[in-house]
Amino acid sequence: MAEPEIENIKNILVVGAGAMGSQIGLVCAMAGYAVAVQDISSEMLEKAQKQLAGRMDRNVEKERMTRQEADEALARLTFTTDLEDAAKDADFVIEAAVEKLDIKRELFRKLDEITPDHTILATNSSTIESSRVADATDRPDRVCNMHFFNPALVMKCVEVVRNPGTSDATIEATVALTEKINKSPVLLNREIPGFVANRILHALANEAISLYENDVASFKDIDTACRTALGHPMGPFELMDLTGIDIAHDVRMVKYERSGDENDRPKRSIVERYERGDLGRKTGKGWYTYDEAGKRVSP
Ligand code: 3HC
Repeated sequence: MAEPEIENIKNILVVGAGAMGSQIGLVCAMAGYAVAVQDISSEMLEKAQKQLAGRMDRNVEKERMTRQEADEALARLTFTTDLEDAAKDADFVIEAAVEKLDIKRELFRKLDEITPDHTILATNSSTIESSRVADATDRPDRVCNMHFFNPALVMKCVEVVRNPGTSDATIEATVALTEKINKSPVLLNREIPGFVANRILHALANEAISLYENDVASFKDIDTACRTALGHPMGPFELMDLTGIDIAHDVRMVKYERSGDENDRPKRSIVERYERGDLGRKTGKGWYTYDEAGKRVSP
C-alpha cells in the first residue's frame, strides 16, 4: 500500500493528551484537519479540552482570530479514550504518549493493526528514534519522527527525522503536512540521539546546571544572563520548568543508560527536584514557584 499524498490526508489522530499532544491536536485542527486526540485517561482529556478552549478564547480576545474561526477549529477536534475507533479512519498518526520504549513499541504494534494500511505513523518523541518502534510494525517505511517543541501552539520548528527504513514518500508527506499546519520543517537525513535542537539545548542546559552547582551564580542570574546577554526568550532553568523537570531527568537517564558515561547522568540538582516531585510549572514548583494560575511567585 502506498503512503497517502498530502492532498489525501484528511484525518489526523494524536495519541496522548498531555501538554504536547493536546496542543499538536489544536495546531492541526486550526489548519483545517479533522483531529482526534486520544488518551487512556479521561481526566487528561477533560483537562486538555478545557485548556485548549481557554487558549482559543485568548486568541479571540487578542483578535488573532474570529470567534467563528475559533469555534470551527474546536469543532474539528474530538477527544476520546477509544483508540480503535479513533484509529480506523486516520490517515496520519502523531504519537505523543509517554517516553517509555516498551509502551511505545506496544502502541505502534497496535496502531499498525488498527489503522488503514496507507496511514503514516509518526512519533513526537525526541529521545526514541523511530527505528526503535518501526520494527514493531509491518510498515517500517511509513514510520518516522515528527518532533514538535513546547509550547507546540507557539514554537514553529518541527524536526522530521527519517530512519534507515523510512520511504521518501513518507518524508515528503510529513514535511508537506508540517508546512500545511504552518510550522517550519527541519529535515534530518539520519537519526542521531536528541536530533538537532535538543542537542544544542542540552549542551547549554548542562553548562548552566554546572555553573549553578559549582556555586558560580544563582540559577535566577544564569537565566538572566541567557535572556539579557544572549537574547534567549527564556533562561535554561525557566525552560526546564516549562518543559518539566521529569522530562529533563528522563531524557538524561535514557542518554546515560545508552552511553554508560557518568557525565550523562542527570545532575544532582535535577535528581533532587525529581525525587521531591518538584517537576516545574505543572506541579507549581520546580526551580521557581508558581501560583494556581501558573504565574511565577518566587524567587
Ligand atoms: N502554551 C501555549 N501558548 C503559550 C504558552 C503555553 N504554555 N505560554 C505562552 N504562550 C503563548 C501565548 O499566546 C502568549 O500570548 P498571550 O498570553 O497573549 O496569549 C505568548 O505565548 C507569549 O507568552 P508570555 O507573554 O506569557 O511569555 P513570553 O513572551 O516569554 O513567551 C514563550 C512565552 C513563547 C514560551 C517564550 O518564552 C519562548 O519562546 N520560550 C522558549 C521556549 C522553548 O525554547 N521551547 C523549546 C523547548 S525544548 C522542547 O520542547 C523539546 C522537547 O523535546 C521537550
